[in-house]
Amino acid sequence: MSKMTANFDPVVTAEKGTYWQPFTANRALRANPAPRTMVSAKGAYYQTLEGHKVFDTLSGLWCTPLGHAHPLIGEALQKQFEKLDFAPSFQLTHSGALSLAQRIADMAPEGMNHVFFANSGSEAVDTALKVALGYHRIKGAGNRFRMIGRERGYHGVGFGGMSVGGILSNRKMFAAGMMPGVDHLRHTYDPKHMAFTRGQPTWGADRAEDLERLVTLHDASTIAAVIVEPVQGSTGVIVPPVGYLQRLREICTQHGILLIFDEVITGFGRMGAPFASQRFDVKPDIITFAKAITNGIVPMGGVIVTDEIYNTFMTGPQNAIEFCHGYTYSGHPLAAAVGHVVLDIMESEGLFERVKALEPVLEDAAHSLKGTPQIADIRNIGLTAAVELKPAEAGAGVRGAAVFEEALKQGLLLRVTGDIISFGPPFISTEEELKTMMSTLGKVIESVG
Ligand SMILES: Cc1ncc(COP(=O)(O)O)c(C=O)c1O
Repeated sequence: MSKMTANFDPVVTAEKGTYWQPFTANRALRANPAPRTMVSAKGAYYQTLEGHKVFDTLSGLWCTPLGHAHPLIGEALQKQFEKLDFAPSFQLTHSGALSLAQRIADMAPEGMNHVFFANSGSEAVDTALKVALGYHRIKGAGNRFRMIGRERGYHGVGFGGMSVGGILSNRKMFAAGMMPGVDHLRHTYDPKHMAFTRGQPTWGADRAEDLERLVTLHDASTIAAVIVEPVQGSTGVIVPPVGYLQRLREICTQHGILLIFDEVITGFGRMGAPFASQRFDVKPDIITFAKAITNGIVPMGGVIVTDEIYNTFMTGPQNAIEFCHGYTYSGHPLAAAVGHVVLDIMESEGLFERVKALEPVLEDAAHSLKGTPQIADIRNIGLTAAVELKPAEAGAGVRGAAVFEEALKQGLLLRVTGDIISFGPPFISTEEELKTMMSTLGKVIESVG
C-alpha cells in the first residue's frame, strides 16, 4: 500500500470536498459520505463502507452487465498489459482494435461495417455528429448543418451531445455554449396514454411527425442528422411507441437526413439483441456505443457507420487524412482486449438469450408494484424498467431521495433521478434477485411513505 492510502480516511477526505464529484449533489454527499462509499464489488453486489451488501440495480451506470470482478476480464487485462499496453492509433494500428472492430461490425445491422473508436458515450456522440457533418460536406451538401435531438434525450456532456440533448438542467448553465442550428423533437412520454404500459406503448407513433414539421420549418436541405436513443434511458426508460422509430426512419430516408441511434445504453444486449436497432427492426445510418462493450472496466466508446458513409469519406489523395478527428486512447489495447473477452462471455453464456428470458420476469416483478399509492407509473423493455414515484408534498425529488437512502440500508443500490427510479440490472441476475429487487423496493417505498 502506498503512503497515501495507508493512513487515508475516505470519510474525512470526502467531507472536505477535495474530490469534486460528477453529477452529484456534492454538499449532500459531503454531509454523509459513509453510506455512499463503495469499498468493493463482486458479481451483482457492492459492499459499502458501512458494511451493507447492496444489489447493483443499474449495473453500475448501465455499464457492468456481467457483474463485477469477472476473473476472465482480470486475466485478459493482465495478459494484454504484458503484450502491448499502449499503441498509438494515429497512423498506426494493432490487432486488438482491428479484430474488435470486425467483431462489432459483424454484430451490427447489415451494411454497417465500419467502426470508429472513442472512449466514452459523450465522445461517441460528438464523433457521430462530426461524421454526419463531414459526410454531407463531402457530398457537396455543407449547408446541411442542423442537428435534431429530442426532448428528454441524453447524449452525454460534450458540447455536441449537450446541445442535441434535451434535459433542462444539463443545458441551462451552459446555454452560451450550445451548438448553433439544433432543434428538438418532442419526447414520446405521456402518462395519460401510457402509464403502466408493459413494453412498447401503442400510443405515440405520430410524435415522429414532429420531424416533418421541422423539415417544413427549416427545409430538409439544412438538416444533417437526427439523433435519438431508441429507448430513452437516463430520463427514466421512456419506451418508443410501436411504429415511432420506423416512422422516423422513413422521414429521414425521404429527406436525405442521417439517422443516428445513440445505443450507449441499449447496445450489446440490454434489449435482448446485439443492438436496439435489431430489437425494433429499424436500421439507422450511425450507431453510437460505449458502456457494456467493456463491462465498464476500461473506458471505451465508438460509432458504427454504414458502408455508404465510410466510402464517402474514403476519397481524395491516398495520403490525406480523411477524417481529422480521434482521441489519444481511441482503440486502446487494454479496452480492446476487454471488449473481446466481454463479447466472448456474452456469447459463451448466451447472455442475449438470458436477457430475453429475464425480460418477462423483470416486467412482472416491476408491475406487481402497481397499486402502490406512491407510484405514478411503471414501465419496462428489455432488461430495463422504471418506477416513477409521485412527488411528495415536501417537493419534487424528496421522496426519491428518501427511497434511495432507505434502500441502501435494505440492500439495494438504486439509481434515482428526481422521483424516477431506473433499473438496468446485470444480465447475470437470477430470477430470484429480480423479484427480490422489486419486492424490497415495495417495502422501502412503504416504509418511507
Ligand atoms: C444514451 C447515452 N449517450 C451518451 C451517454 C454519455 O456517456 P458517457 O457518460 O460515457 O460519456 C450516456 C450516458 O449515460 C447515454 O446514456
